[in-house]
Amino acid sequence: MAMSMPGVLKLYFGESNQPTPEFIKQAAVQALADGYTFYTENAGLPSLRRTLADYYRKLQGVALDPESEIVITASGVQALNVGIRCVLDPGDEALILTPAWPNGSSIVGMASGVARQIPQPLCGERYAIDFDALERAVNPRTRLLLYTSPSNPLGWVATVEDQRLLLEFCQRHRLWLLADEVYDRLYYAGARLGEPVASILRLATRDDAVLVVHSFSKSYCMTGWRVGWLMARRDLARKATQLNEFIISHAPSFAQKAAEIALSAGEEELVRMLGRLKANRDFCIEALRRMPGVTVPEPDGAFYLFPKIEGLSDSFEFCRQLLEQERVGLAPGVAFGEGGEGSIRICYAADRSVLEPAMERLAKFLCFAIAA
Ligand SMILES: Cc1ncc(COP(=O)(O)O)c(C=O)c1O
Repeated sequence: MAMSMPGVLKLYFGESNQPTPEFIKQAAVQALADGYTFYTENAGLPSLRRTLADYYRKLQGVALDPESEIVITASGVQALNVGIRCVLDPGDEALILTPAWPNGSSIVGMASGVARQIPQPLCGERYAIDFDALERAVNPRTRLLLYTSPSNPLGWVATVEDQRLLLEFCQRHRLWLLADEVYDRLYYAGARLGEPVASILRLATRDDAVLVVHSFSKSYCMTGWRVGWLMARRDLARKATQLNEFIISHAPSFAQKAAEIALSAGEEELVRMLGRLKANRDFCIEALRRMPGVTVPEPDGAFYLFPKIEGLSDSFEFCRQLLEQERVGLAPGVAFGEGGEGSIRICYAADRSVLEPAMERLAKFLCFAIAA
């Protein structure tokens, strides 16, 4: 509805209105001129995998073998798809921490698996992991646990202790642990902006049943390029490489080459973007906390706020009316699965010329809704 309506302030997609940085676009143009127009390996360009291994060594202190533990994919969602399909047989079950980006649960369903959503309760100012609920949900058909940190839509960031407990839970029950880390660079609670969230790979050994999905979309404003990657134990990485052949074979060659430049030359631009995002987050939290009936924890990562609206039982209808009356497009909390109803998701990656009127219109809408 929102996409076909004129004049909508769009805060519903997980992307900013900033274009891809110029140096990345130029790298793609150069790659085309240099002949990156042919097929690449199913696991992606060896030079991009080597650059990623280097990036993880520097940024996370993690040693990865670019030959056998990294697979380039055509986006984060494709990494998720390939990873889940490698792990699940029909009828197998996956535990998914929610509220979460719905694609994980949908992909489990498309692999003829069963998604068991385990809501993360809000304890004071922080979301937690309900390990008792996880223990109750696990059964002989359970194969996988999927979590997202930083989280879409919560902005929650798993602590090292959370990660240790998740890993230990999966080891004990012989499950694969799938970490969606696509937002790891969008982190505001580090010692300095640009410090990433610690990857689960810092804790896992290379023999653990762990896979991580990632993407160029969020850190480098490359949502339309469709390049991501997967890191996993080598048996899974080998299977994922084979499976890639039958889905998309590989990400576009020139886009992979441009992604290499994004990694090696993108830090300065990334830190500039993080400064803008953090200021946007603070602006929106302050505005929301002035609105009646709104509770919003301060998230440490990603670029979303997930305020709870007092008395709200139909977030879809709320968002539909907000769109029609005020031309503000948000995502209803119900879209994010168990634990999502009663909230709305705001993506604060747009610039101030969009966020300021959007917050004003939301405040006006809420005042009327409460008066009615
Ligand atoms: C949690 C999460 N994982 C993965 C993705 C996939 O990103 P992409 O397919 O653009 O790489 C998204 C996109 O919104 C996301 O929110």
